Amino acid sequence: MSQDTEKKAAAEAAALLIEDGMIVGLGTGSTVAFLLPAIAKRKLDIRCVATSAATEEAARALGLAVESADEVDRLDLAIDGADQIAPDHWLVKGGGAAQTREKIIAAAADRFVVIADSSKLVAEIATPIPLELLPFGLAATLKRIGHVTLRDVPRSPDGGVIADYTGSAADPERLAVWLSSVPGVVEHGIFPASMVHEVIIGRGKTVERLTRAL
Ligand code: 5RP
Repeated sequence: MSQDTEKKAAAEAAALLIEDGMIVGLGTGSTVAFLLPAIAKRKLDIRCVATSAATEEAARALGLAVESADEVDRLDLAIDGADQIAPDHWLVKGGGAAQTREKIIAAAADRFVVIADSSKLVAEIATPIPLELLPFGLAATLKRIGHVTLRDVPRSPDGGVIADYTGSAADPERLAVWLSSVPGVVEHGIFPASMVHEVIIGRGKTVERLTRAL
């Protein structure tokens, strides 16, 4: 079964979690691209916040009401894709370079639901880990991180330089703490399991709702 079929199945299942009156965070990427029409089709009275210009544009084109994240201090639900999903539900995100905005929205949501095709399930988290870096003092930040490559993509909408950490990710929790402690690192793509409320994986045309391995 194609990955797109699985992405669509997961996205459509997640769209059913949305109820009238909710403020909903919309992630970024090809799986979220299947989520947006599934939400629009339900014709609910909801307010949305987007994690990227691409998502905002696509959502508005489908008639969804998208508000600025600057004025929304909490959300009922956020739904987003992921690049890696470990059995304990630690995630890696940021393949689309939107990890900073995605993490802010996920953290502000009462429920953060991850949608993905089955290829995103991994036995353990591995590098590369996406990074957003402050342009100021970039050379010093890169030197401190050590194992890092700059990504050949435009800066983030917030002016951040997009890079990938390429060292060891054997202990994701420790790595997340360390990356957050490096001056100049705006955000990294490791999302802790404590942030994740549900993982919906497409399996063929059906979905699996995963519970976390403790
Ligand atoms: C963007 C992300 C995406 O959610 C992640 O890369 C998954 O993308 P896709 O749904 O296209 O596989 O983190 O920054």
